[in-house]
Amino acid sequence: MAFIQKDEQYYVNKYLNNKLVFGEGQKNAKIFIIGEAPGGDEEKQGRPFVGKAGKNLDEFLKIAGVSRNDVYITNTVKLRPTKISAKTGNAINRPPSKEEIEDFIPLLMDELSTIKPKLVVTLGNVPLKAVTSDEKITIGSVHGKLLKVGEMRIFPLYHPAAVIYNQSLRQTYMDDLEAIKNYL
Ligand code: URA
Repeated sequence: MAFIQKDEQYYVNKYLNNKLVFGEGQKNAKIFIIGEAPGGDEEKQGRPFVGKAGKNLDEFLKIAGVSRNDVYITNTVKLRPTKISAKTGNAINRPPSKEEIEDFIPLLMDELSTIKPKLVVTLGNVPLKAVTSDEKITIGSVHGKLLKVGEMRIFPLYHPAAVIYNQSLRQTYMDDLEAIKNYL
């Protein structure tokens, strides 16, 4: 994945009409959680993981015995990727494009080098591929296992939204949370 530093003007010109949602949390957080991209609720409130996926994330934190105040939470892409629904004519969520992901990776790397967390928890495929720089890695094969990439320790989890849409993942997700709790 390309990791090219872009100047401020590049972002201003390209994303002028987007509301950006930046990461939030303690500067000395030991756990750094990365999602995919903000949804509608996050865009409205300007904060990551405050909508339905946020509720699931809060449940995850509770099970893993971690307080939201002790972690840093961010997204791979800082804007809400949307498309127009042919049915309603309204903006609806879509997965972030390769270009959007590549544009925002330098910001994510900046956040990681500022916070210097002990553990990075990736939610779903998008942040997993971004932090491992591995296009071929998939959450299905590495979820719930600790990975080491350079100095970084990564614990990949399914995305909470995947668990909302696919109830059969729920037990796997719970087992992975148990594994993370044991690790912590
Ligand atoms: N899904 C994400 O990946 N991030 C958010 O902030 C909200 C939903």
